[in-house]
Amino acid sequence: MDVNSFYEVVHRRRDVRGEFTGGVVSPEVLRRILSAAHAAPSVGLSQPWDFVLIRDVGIRTAFRDHVQAEREVFAGQLDEERSRIFARIKVEGVLESSLGIVVTYDPQRGSPAVLGRHAIADAGLYSVCLAIQNLWLAATTEGLGVGWVSFYREEFLRDLLGIPRQIRPVAWLCLGPVRTLHTTPDLERHGWRDRIPLAQVMHEERFGRPAQH
Ligand SMILES: Cc1cc2nc3c(=O)[nH]c(=O)nc-3n(C[C@H](O)[C@H](O)[C@H](O)COP(=O)(O)O)c2cc1C
Repeated sequence: MDVNSFYEVVHRRRDVRGEFTGGVVSPEVLRRILSAAHAAPSVGLSQPWDFVLIRDVGIRTAFRDHVQAEREVFAGQLDEERSRIFARIKVEGVLESSLGIVVTYDPQRGSPAVLGRHAIADAGLYSVCLAIQNLWLAATTEGLGVGWVSFYREEFLRDLLGIPRQIRPVAWLCLGPVRTLHTTPDLERHGWRDRIPLAQVMHEERFGRPAQH
């Protein structure tokens, strides 16, 4: 494997909102991407994820409307300056993307004896996030974009998709071909927040002691 091509994909990956073309994602490509997601590590090999593919425009429109309402809820919590910046930021591409993939977490899968989860219940959720990251990187490798949407109430999405009560919808992922992938995150481009230098989050021996190298 070419080491550089891996890092190139890691750094090329972007969260996409406004650049979807709505073009076709072939079944073969979709299968490869989902296989990559399904190959993720998981606590106790619980594989607690499911992937719900959503192409139906009625369902997508209902979700988009809900996301817009939640966007207003968030906007209502901002001061004037943040409000002005936030107004320019798109937070979803639900209808512009080719399809939605809702990734869910089933805490019952593999239970009661999930090896490695007895002390950290969240390890199940971490596993789902790793599947999502695999999916994201695979999609980037395939030349597609992904946008993670979290402006929703779990209860709403459960009802919309008939997800059982014990299962948590972790993400709505917008997927599809894109016009371009920007080199910097949208939030950085719009002045919402910058990437923190690596050195600032590296510690040595004790938390809070800066790393030397
Ligand atoms: C858990 C999670 C939830 C997110 N939710 C949203 C969202 O609701 N809307 C959105 O536009 N971006 C969302 N994002 C994308 C982040 O804003 C994005 O990853 C971050 O700004 C860095 O940009 P990049 O992914 O292009 O590097 C989410 C990302 C994560 C990991």
